[in-house]
Amino acid sequence: MTEANFGVVLAVLTAFFGITGYSLPWDQIGYWAVKTVICVPDAIPVIGSHVVELLRGSASVGQSTLTRFYSLHTFVLPLLTAIFMLMHFPMIRKQGIFGPL
Ligand code: HEM
Repeated sequence: MTEANFGVVLAVLTAFFGITGYSLPWDQIGYWAVKTVICVPDAIPVIGSHVVELLRGSASVGQSTLTRFYSLHTFVLPLLTAIFMLMHFPMIRKQGIFGPL
């Protein structure tokens, strides 16, 4: 995997921060945003419905979904981001920035 790929992973992780964080106030906007976004992984062939089930944590969006989103937002995503940053920076130091900024 090249340095550019780590950067793309970091960008995707940042999007996941936004998606999971948006639900955390658990107001009407947050709740209905989860209701909508939780269906997105369903589009993944074969494993999609299992991913949705795992994220939702119960038959419908509720307390367990919020707990999962909170854990992802405040623990899993920061950990993954830190790991990818630690790989990203040395690769930039090694290869240099590509082209003029
Ligand atoms: C790129 C990084 C991050 C992004 C883009 C992001 C995004 C967001 C967004 C959009 C919200 C909803 C805010 C609202 O509507 O009131 C939120 C809430 C929250 N975020 Fe993040 N977040 C990031 C990193 C983090 C980190 C590292 C932590 C803690 C370890 C964290 C903890 C929280 C908490 C506790 C809330 C709930 C706040 C509330 O309900 O008022 N976030 N985040």
